[in-house]
Amino acid sequence: MSLMKEIRQYPVEKNSVAMWWLGQSGYIFKTSEGTLTSVDMYLTDSCAALVPGMNFSRKVPVLIQPEELDVDIYTCTHNHQDHTDPFTVRGLRNKDTAHFVGPHPSCEVYRAENVESGRIVPTWPQRELELRDVKITGTFALPTDDSDLNHMGFVYQFGGGPRIYVTGDTDFSELLFSVEKQKPDIVITVINGGFNNLSHWEAAEVCGKIKPKVAIPCHYDMFPDNSIDPKQFKATLGLRAPDVPYHELRHGEPFLFRK
Ligand SMILES: [Fe+2]
Repeated sequence: MSLMKEIRQYPVEKNSVAMWWLGQSGYIFKTSEGTLTSVDMYLTDSCAALVPGMNFSRKVPVLIQPEELDVDIYTCTHNHQDHTDPFTVRGLRNKDTAHFVGPHPSCEVYRAENVESGRIVPTWPQRELELRDVKITGTFALPTDDSDLNHMGFVYQFGGGPRIYVTGDTDFSELLFSVEKQKPDIVITVINGGFNNLSHWEAAEVCGKIKPKVAIPCHYDMFPDNSIDPKQFKATLGLRAPDVPYHELRHGEPFLFRK
């Protein structure tokens, strides 16, 4: 069975959320009502030749082809191609049924790739949206370079139950600690500082302030020239946030979280 079909059939009880990692910052979340929300789907190899001299060929297989992807809410944190991939958006078949959420530069990509304008929902830090049974609150993120100055993260609340904070790409700032007020159950964080994102050390500090029930590393797995061993984050979390459990997801395998 294809992964997309598996996800559609996977049962989720009330006050729970199921999630699947597709690589980099790309996740699909499923509520008990069956709503599927994606974040930062990178389902092509379009970054391979993006930066001369750097190896950005994808290491993780494409687990769902863009043409097969069938989610209700498509979100992107910012307009870098490993997060808002125009080639992934181009291949989607549900451009007239899903909601497409993101900061304005991501919305420009949606528009350029023929998503119906009525389906596009611009958002920004502190904006709260309710789409189906998912509440999406924009969070602060500090841009990592001047190629895009509109980074953000999201806190998703699924069916009035679990809350997940996805940092998006962000440099370190104490303003990231403000997400603590939203009491996320899970933090999904970047941990590789090579391109000025949070390092594993900084990510652990953020988790220590926010105190989620689970910390999940992301963004370290996709590109040969932007990889680190997630156990670096595990080690630092043990030192800087010993009360926050570490959890490493495996690509394409479900992780069910009960509140
Ligand atoms: Fe990135």
